[in-house]
Amino acid sequence: MTKINEACEKVLYSEEIIEAKCKEIAQKISEDYAGEEVTLVSILNGSFMFTSDLIKKLTVDCRIDFLQVSTYGASTVSSGKFTVKKPLSLDIENKNVLIVEDIIDTGFTMVNLLKYIEGFNPKSIKLCTLIDKPHRRTQDISADYACFTMENDEFIVGYGLDYAQNYRNLPYIAVLKEQIYN
Ligand code: PRP
Repeated sequence: MTKINEACEKVLYSEEIIEAKCKEIAQKISEDYAGEEVTLVSILNGSFMFTSDLIKKLTVDCRIDFLQVSTYGASTVSSGKFTVKKPLSLDIENKNVLIVEDIIDTGFTMVNLLKYIEGFNPKSIKLCTLIDKPHRRTQDISADYACFTMENDEFIVGYGLDYAQNYRNLPYIAVLKEQIYN
């Protein structure tokens, strides 16, 4: 069994659970896009690990691109300003685009991402997220695919998710000890 990082209080989603959920979501995506090609747009940095595991399990033809945007800066509260730090490299005009996020919280990032992606006239756009926090939503937006839905505001790290850029490497998702961020 993996030893939990000492900054963490408890494991919320284990490696095994994440693996199983990834498989389930990848199957759904593969069924929905059967006979079509899909371009995954992975939102850096948080979704790198999820995207990597997800794409290996897809059975449809796919391409991958990465996009880095900023809404939070170094803060834990949204700055309310959306900027593109690393733009797309691939041409997505008339392509099926699947945005892959680690977390949808207020939905502010996703609303702006959608506007940005729509500007390239893709054939379709769908949203896939590792974690969904619908109770935190301030924007009218929902995910097409979500691995986990969280009902509370526990501070989570691991599997791509960070606190001050740390803990992204943990293979599980865990609740960070309060004394670390307070
Ligand atoms: C996180 C996450 C989403 C966004 C979700 O990004 O990856 O992009 O916040 O929050 P929202 O729904 O309230 O807009 P962050 O800016 O922390 O960057 P990171 O992916 O590099 O960790």
